[in-house]
Amino acid sequence: LRGKSVFNLFFENSTRTRTTFEIAANRLSADIINLDIPTSSTSKGESLMDTIDNLIAMQADIFVVRHNISKAPIEIANHVPEHVHVINAGDGSHQHPTQGLLDAYTMRHFKQDFSKLKVAIIGDILHSRVAKSNIHALTTLGCHDIRAIGPESLLPTDLAKDLSALGVKVFHKVEDGIKDADVVMTLRIQKERMDQGQVPEGAAFFSQFGLNAERLALAKPDAIVMHPGPMNRGVEIDSAIADGKQSVILNQVTFGIAIRMAVMSIVAGN
Ligand code: CP
Repeated sequence: LRGKSVFNLFFENSTRTRTTFEIAANRLSADIINLDIPTSSTSKGESLMDTIDNLIAMQADIFVVRHNISKAPIEIANHVPEHVHVINAGDGSHQHPTQGLLDAYTMRHFKQDFSKLKVAIIGDILHSRVAKSNIHALTTLGCHDIRAIGPESLLPTDLAKDLSALGVKVFHKVEDGIKDADVVMTLRIQKERMDQGQVPEGAAFFSQFGLNAERLALAKPDAIVMHPGPMNRGVEIDSAIADGKQSVILNQVTFGIAIRMAVMSIVAGN
């Protein structure tokens, strides 16, 4: 991507996605510009599309967009000219496509055949763009046994119906859903996207839904443990499990670089 300009537009905080997109762009020889949103003119009332138009005037080729508003990246994609590319880096509770891809890559690296995998996703399914992108990726790749596990407040009837229609099995007890799983993925509680009191807090959540040694022992002995980060240790996952031998959490981060290089090459490579 030598000669191409990649603009990182992160309207919401990020450690992994933003940094690995930057590393990926550097490795592809692109020029990478990290717009500092809090000090940009968006704080003076400039509209999102005016900001985008000004960056296009600076010869932007790729926008990597994270936004707290669901579907903001597709709105930008619908606004920009054809030669400009928009990559969704996570939008609200909608989708996080490159996370879904890097998670699928991680599963294939450690477990190979998707058609034989049992994947348990535990936690805040309702607000998780990661869960949605993973379910999308896994069903596309031929995984027939996906379990979504969480409290009823985070897996309400409508969502449970939608998931069932996709073939995803819904559980409200970790002990029921985790049995014989090959992959156990835990998710952060997205407090910023929910009303107070919607779920039990901290230690109370951990006692009901946290991944600990006893629960993990119900999965296959060689099950891998995944988490997209950021992790809240002692809430959705026990520290000993996060740092344990079954954990591939930091491998996920490393694989994110290759995945983001691939995505940028495919959308904007010559
Ligand atoms: N997994 C993920 O999106 O992490 P960040 O919010 O740190 O980018």
